[in-house]
Amino acid sequence: MLTETAPAKINLALHVRARRPDGYHDLETLFVFARDGDRVSLADAEASTFAMTGRFADVVGPDADNLVVRAAAAFRAAFGIARHHAITLDKHLPVASGIGGGSADAAATLRALARRHDVAVDDPRLVALAAGLGADVPACLLGRAAFGSGRGDALAPIAGLGDMPVLLVNPLVPVSTAAVFAGWDGVDRGAITGGDDTLARGIAGRNDLQPAAERVAPQVAQVLAILREQAGVVLARMSGSGATCFALFRHAADRDAAAAAVAARQPDWWQLASMIA
Ligand code: C5P
Repeated sequence: MLTETAPAKINLALHVRARRPDGYHDLETLFVFARDGDRVSLADAEASTFAMTGRFADVVGPDADNLVVRAAAAFRAAFGIARHHAITLDKHLPVASGIGGGSADAAATLRALARRHDVAVDDPRLVALAAGLGADVPACLLGRAAFGSGRGDALAPIAGLGDMPVLLVNPLVPVSTAAVFAGWDGVDRGAITGGDDTLARGIAGRNDLQPAAERVAPQVAQVLAILREQAGVVLARMSGSGATCFALFRHAADRDAAAAAVAARQPDWWQLASMIA
């Protein structure tokens, strides 16, 4: 059996630049990845099967709609694979939450199938399959810090943050990405600026989807307010289209103290203490 991690994706900054005629938006974003997330396991089988385990296994819709199932079907078709696989998704990241979730799972599925069938992970056919599954799937397939433009799928690698402690917090309100993009006010507030320092560029940047996300999920403002009052916070911001927010720390002890403070105030919120590579 092969297992691939589907790490949580974090947008350090997300600048929306323009609406496009195809229904998408041109954006600029700084993608980084946590060390933890969902897990996809794959084994050869007589028939194709899909099963889910983990805390969020129950809140995902029908199998046929799952991006993991669609990714596997697309891979088999593109590479002419007749063999079947039993796939298990261990779901720990909240669904519709701005940290990749389904995109990370789809990318991990493609990576696992690529390993099983000796396809290079940077094979252009695999990258094209990823882009067809969703705007964030190519970034998740790359799985390392990158500057994203276009729909978020034109990628250029950037320096990572070098093991920076991160706390992710979600108020467990699912947020539709399409609804949040639709609520963007149409004002281009400018490019992501700065030199080579990814953290400095992130701090100087924004998440232009935050106001629209707060209209869908007002709890986002509450999450950010709590995160920003914690000791040692370097940057607190919403990721993607929300509602998950992240806080970066220099020291793991500050992250852990913040996690305890959030849990004491909001025991029902989801959180993940991790590291950004
Ligand atoms: O590509 P994906 O299916 O993940 O995108 C979900 C929705 O998010 C799209 O249908 C679109 O409404 C919105 N979106 C967008 N611009 C992007 C990425 C996503 O408008 N760059």
